[in-house]
Amino acid sequence: MDKDTIRNDPRFRGLTPFSSRIWLSSPTMHGEEQKWVDEAIRTNWVSTVGENINEVERQMAEYVGCRYAVALSAGTAALHLATRLAGEKLYGQARPERGTLSGRKVFCSDCTFDASINPVGYEDGEAVFIDTEYDTWNMDPVALEKAFSLYPDVRLAVVAHLYGTPGKMDRIREICEEHGALIVEDAAESLGAKYRLGDRWVETGTLGQYNCISFNGNKIITGSAGGMFLTDSREDAEKVRKWSTQSREAAPWYQHEEIGYNYRMSNIVAGVIRGQLPYLAEHIAQKRAVWERYEKGLADLPVRMNPWDREKSVPNFWLSCMIIDRDAMAPSIRGEREYLYQSEAGKSSPHEILDALAAFGAEGRPIWKPMHMQPIYRSNPFVTAEGSGRGKSNAYIAGTGVDVGADIFRRGLCLPSDNKMTKEQQDVIIEIIHRCFE
Ligand SMILES: Cc1ncc(COP(=O)(O)O)c(C=O)c1O
Repeated sequence: MDKDTIRNDPRFRGLTPFSSRIWLSSPTMHGEEQKWVDEAIRTNWVSTVGENINEVERQMAEYVGCRYAVALSAGTAALHLATRLAGEKLYGQARPERGTLSGRKVFCSDCTFDASINPVGYEDGEAVFIDTEYDTWNMDPVALEKAFSLYPDVRLAVVAHLYGTPGKMDRIREICEEHGALIVEDAAESLGAKYRLGDRWVETGTLGQYNCISFNGNKIITGSAGGMFLTDSREDAEKVRKWSTQSREAAPWYQHEEIGYNYRMSNIVAGVIRGQLPYLAEHIAQKRAVWERYEKGLADLPVRMNPWDREKSVPNFWLSCMIIDRDAMAPSIRGEREYLYQSEAGKSSPHEILDALAAFGAEGRPIWKPMHMQPIYRSNPFVTAEGSGRGKSNAYIAGTGVDVGADIFRRGLCLPSDNKMTKEQQDVIIEIIHRCFE
């Protein structure tokens, strides 16, 4: 529906569009970034070597509590090299024409951004998607256990923490250990989130054998781009550093025994990150305040905020999301690229709310569409808490089996979560959402 039609809807009477756009999650510069970028330029260290890189690697390793951090051009690059390391460890060195996971299955988080999963494809592996649980909206350990019973040979899991909320990592780690499987942890969205392992609190980014974070422009802190591989293994850190700089061997000329990548972080990008690092705690506190204001402001509606385990985790609250109660869902359908909804008194739907927010200048987003529903992965295996999630409907029997990810995608949405949004602006957003349910 177009913006004017929505604004003229009597339900939104008295509301005026925001004078400047409210973003889902935009970068927040503080000024110190400029100092380190200028320093890099002044000293002529503008390539993929320099003091900013050394410093962000040192500071990040110290912050998350690991021995080594390797600065890379993107979180996706970190995930690729992490996945490749795992593939080599499990199945031996790759050939230039064949990835390390060729012919192998890998268990993957289903409700995540496709960058978590792409490296499995880069390495010629086949992703098996593991359904989501309602408690944290992350990989369901029960479904993971089912997956090991269906595919006992699998030795690798790629596990993401959605929207900055840690998943049930104690169970996921136990299950993987029982089956001799390694974990690539995708902490791209969750830098600064904490998890309680037994009686120890640890940072996300230390929970797998191979761990990755992102400094993409929309993340909790940013370098404009960038990512990092985090590990306690010196050997793995050195390997990733070598692969990320085209895999040069020790020879006077360019000598190569393995495939290389141009994945190293630039010292300019590292300067931006260096200037952002002192503000990580502040950004998390701001994002938490946003989440808590939504929780309070929406409490009287038939909706719930994205949940987290209050005993075992502290999210970084990167994105605030909500899910509409089943019986408060107004009719709506989605095709491959379009959607359609109807308004109904007392009810609403994600697209009705997203359209209303957009009409007044605020950016929300649908929940990340689960990977098993993506056209590219439609023929990949998908495992739920009940077993295989494919082929579950029957023309002659009612019911279609559980699919938690599809349900959260159908009923949920990401709310404007910018840390620079004022309380007054957020009050208007909360009011718009209330009007959608009128
Ligand atoms: C869950 C997840 N994994 C991986 C990435 C990839 O990170 P980058 O954009 O730095 O490559 C992102 C974000 O972009 C993400 O949200």
